[in-house]
Amino acid sequence: MIKEKFKSFLARKMNLKSNAFYACSPHLSPALVDCIKKLTEDQSLGDKAYYEFGLFKGHSLWFAQQIFSVYDQKEISYYGFDSFSGLPKVEGIDEGGGFNEGDYSVSQNEVLLNLEKNSADLNKIQLFKGFFSNEHFRNLEKSNQFKEPCLAVIDCDLYSSTVPVLDFLLPKIKSETYILFDDYNCFEKDDGKGQRLALTEAKQKFPNLKWEELNDFGWHGKTFKASL
Ligand SMILES: C[S@@+](CC[C@H](N)C(=O)[O-])C[C@H]1O[C@@H](n2cnc3c(N)ncnc32)[C@H](O)[C@@H]1O
Repeated sequence: MIKEKFKSFLARKMNLKSNAFYACSPHLSPALVDCIKKLTEDQSLGDKAYYEFGLFKGHSLWFAQQIFSVYDQKEISYYGFDSFSGLPKVEGIDEGGGFNEGDYSVSQNEVLLNLEKNSADLNKIQLFKGFFSNEHFRNLEKSNQFKEPCLAVIDCDLYSSTVPVLDFLLPKIKSETYILFDDYNCFEKDDGKGQRLALTEAKQKFPNLKWEELNDFGWHGKTFKASL
């Protein structure tokens, strides 16, 4: 049953023929609305940022900006990270989940065009190109001052992609951050694979953070709140 759902999810995810502007996961948008609503009730967002790791067409980043502006939060910065050439080589622990090298490849220009055509506020958005690794993020830190995250979407499917993302993101948490793991329940909820394993390891690496497990979204995603 789960496998069948997974296959149809992937089939939808893989429908790259259309020029339409859409998110891979239809469940991510309501999960974003939920978090943004809570965030804007709970705290003043001041000078914080939205982070998204794994952009595909850029829809979820665009959508997050639309919803934050509905709640009058126009000052937030938006950081989008992607290879802009799809998934890296899928090997070792990441094999067998239905993911393949190059899946979800959308160029940076296409993402920018999608954002522009849909009236995103490009002044607030920065896109960072490159395959995720500790070295890649260290290099980005050298030339950028990243703001504290209030909300992060980690939608990069694989264990090997999620580990460096968490190493980069988690030290930036100073108060509370909502984190949407879009692929938390992939790999048939195997605790020894995918984003589940990456998060278990990150909890050990960053013991100062407290984790609140919130709701699932779709069959694949889960929302957490991390607090210092
Ligand atoms: C499922 S798609 C993201 C969907 C998007 N968040 C949305 O809502 O439509 C996965 C994305 O992760 C990116 N990705 C996965 N692993 C990566 C890595 N190691 N380095 C850079 N990008 C990666 C892929 O290029 C792809 O754009």
